[in-house]
Amino acid sequence: MKIDVLLGLQWGDEGKGKVVDYLAPKYDVVARFQGGPNAGHTLEFDGHKHVLHQIPSGIFREKIKNIIGNGVVLDPIVFKKEIEGLSKFEIDLTKNLFISKKTQLILPTHKLLDAAYEKAKGKDKIGSTLKGIGPSYQDKTARNGLRVGDILAPGFKERYLNLRGKHENILSHYDFEYDLQEAEAPFFDAIEFLKRFKLVNSEYFINNSIRSEETVLAEGAQGSLLDVDFGSYPYVTSSNTMSAGACTGLGVAPRNIGKVFGIFKAYCTRVGSGPFPTELFDATGEEMQKEGNEFGATTGRPRRCGWLDLPALKYAVMINGVTELFMMKADVLSIFEEIKICTHYKLGDGTLTEEMPFQLMDEEVEPVYKSFKGWHVDVRDVKVYDNVPAELKDYIAFIEAESGVPVTIVSVGPDRTETILR
Ligand code: GDP
Ligand code: IMO
Ligand code: MG
Repeated sequence: MKIDVLLGLQWGDEGKGKVVDYLAPKYDVVARFQGGPNAGHTLEFDGHKHVLHQIPSGIFREKIKNIIGNGVVLDPIVFKKEIEGLSKFEIDLTKNLFISKKTQLILPTHKLLDAAYEKAKGKDKIGSTLKGIGPSYQDKTARNGLRVGDILAPGFKERYLNLRGKHENILSHYDFEYDLQEAEAPFFDAIEFLKRFKLVNSEYFINNSIRSEETVLAEGAQGSLLDVDFGSYPYVTSSNTMSAGACTGLGVAPRNIGKVFGIFKAYCTRVGSGPFPTELFDATGEEMQKEGNEFGATTGRPRRCGWLDLPALKYAVMINGVTELFMMKADVLSIFEEIKICTHYKLGDGTLTEEMPFQLMDEEVEPVYKSFKGWHVDVRDVKVYDNVPAELKDYIAFIEAESGVPVTIVSVGPDRTETILR
């Protein structure tokens, strides 16, 4: 059985956690393939709200195997805290959670480096979550990194000290004060804690699942516009957030990728720095932020808000090979009488384009909008597509026609049950 991939098509926070939890009962395995604790995936059900950073969002569904793949970067401290926070749910995570031995570790010094680099960038800072993501992927590609499997080997402490030394050397060149001792004891505690879990060769695990006709859902983190190759570079994260990332982040061949679920908000948000053509700086943007409760699930920072950006969405559909679209947070737009979609960009020289410019940041880009009549009724109780207001159906039909991909799920609230399956 081929694996399905679910990923965000915008700048993250599209609602991936909610949908993975919703779809999980259809799957035997849920696997994270990239990113790390920069992710904050929110799930709501039975009056509870959970935010997951490292653990796959299939964890609350019984009998599902959850995998943290080789493409992920793992902070043992965050991981331990997250597992302890789940203890009241009496799920035996040592049974249904599997971690790739090839997953890269985030060291306390990676977080310090993240902060030092951001401080040095001044006004040009990326707006990183400061979870050590960039420095940890840097060490991976520089072939310095420590991996989860290394914690089982006798020389781990020595290798750790060696890498810490390299990091301290770099830090000495920055105007940056730190206290490493405070972070080290919890790190080694968390390393011991990690040893209780099933540390596996996850590429065999996944491919055995594929061979034995098990169903696998790969859960993306961040979004396509934060992809290190195709996002708004350098204002991106440090991994490939796109569907191809599921191949390298899990050890799955391209021919074994089945459906690609692309998920997007009915509007756009972005947290952190970087270009955002449809960003609203007026009362409409503020209302969107308030109605959508747009505050980061990992850092609590306010999310910048704006209308749906179709050139960006089509770009994400193209690079990911999206086969189905899921539209999230349609309920948030219920407050507006008029709703807009950006269909083109007008460049500095007056030309219209539907393509993403090479350097969105430097290019003068003015969004060209198409206006839609708002539905202006509460849709959170709508359970079947027939009962969706005509104006919302028109909005969806336009997106489908433009992207060439059907919208098969419409989400109308944060709860598991507030989901319309077409
Ligand atoms: P993720 O990172 O893609 O998993 O998304 P986040 O959890 O960071 O952010 C999505 C936020 O929107 C969370 O607070 C969700 O509970 C919430 N959410 C998800 N779907 C909907 C929806 O359809 N309507 C509303 N109002 N909120 C939603
Ligand atoms: P989920 O999985 C939204 C953003 C940060 C910053 C940039 C780089 O919840 O959708 P990093 O910490 O990776 O070095 O930050 O990327 N960012 C996210 N924005 N949702 C996320 O994850 C994000 N993960 C990183 O705000 O602009
Ligand atoms: Mg999030």
